[in-house]
Amino acid sequence: MNKDLLKIEDLSKEEILDILNLADQLKYELKHGIKHHHLEGKTLGMIFEKSSTRTRVSFEAGMYQLGGYPLFLSSSDLQIGRGEPIQDTARVLSRYLNGIMIRTFSQKEVSDLAECSSIPIINGLTDDEHPCQILADLMTIRENKNILEGLKVAYIGDGNNMAQSLLIGCLTSGMDISLAIPNNYMIKEDYINKGIEIAKNNNLNFNIVNDPKEAAKDADVVITDVWASMGQESETLERIKAFKGYQVNSELMKVAKDDAIVLHCLPAHREEEITEEILEKHADIIFEEAENRLHVQKSILVKLLK
Ligand code: CP
Ligand code: NVA
Repeated sequence: MNKDLLKIEDLSKEEILDILNLADQLKYELKHGIKHHHLEGKTLGMIFEKSSTRTRVSFEAGMYQLGGYPLFLSSSDLQIGRGEPIQDTARVLSRYLNGIMIRTFSQKEVSDLAECSSIPIINGLTDDEHPCQILADLMTIRENKNILEGLKVAYIGDGNNMAQSLLIGCLTSGMDISLAIPNNYMIKEDYINKGIEIAKNNNLNFNIVNDPKEAAKDADVVITDVWASMGQESETLERIKAFKGYQVNSELMKVAKDDAIVLHCLPAHREEEITEEILEKHADIIFEEAENRLHVQKSILVKLLK
């Protein structure tokens, strides 16, 4: 594996499967009280420039369960918040820590941090990517469907960080994917091109459509995410109007396979991107997906820090 996990495309199919296999094992061991102190004496810095419930708590608890020590670092308390360059921060923190997880806005900040650090850097969400979430989603899909290859995933909504990482993660894992995204909120062209390339090389179906029903047709997995991501709060009303019709609801689910599962990375905005009814109907799996953040991130930590 590379030194860092900055984007989902950093991982090959084999590496994704290795991470999921170890995550399954760690989940089993945790449930059976089998200790797994793979990271005894190791420290993980966790830099947050955006809010978080799942990412923060699952990385923190996970690091503890692995016998290591997590340090929560709010960017407003760090000198980054007063303008110290990320490059200098990287060189300093590399001398204290064994790894860094960062949640921030720009992907470039994460790649700059990685370039100047001698320790592994893990992307805990940027405006472009959310690789840890996608790995938890793949783990959850595999737990429920037993396989990944050959399944059809439908993503309905904003062309955001989740959509971009999901596209690459699903295709790399051998799944077909259909995205329903309004034209003005499209994923970046780089991701579309990368998607086309992976699909072509592996004989997979990838398309982007405007009609959510076309995307959801015969899907095994239906996924959505908020219409206004962190940092876009001022656009909320405009987005609610633009995304009308892009809701995961019972009407839409009628065209998916009968045994289709629904995933949502959470937090969810009920009656916007997903109805209360569908969220509650699929709550067991959606909260399992949230739990799987813990197991899959522990697996990533072991692979990168051990
Ligand atoms: N899904 C997710 O990343 O949740 P948090 O924003 O709570 O970390
Ligand atoms: N797209 C959302 C995901 C939150 C986990 C955001 O960036 O706010």
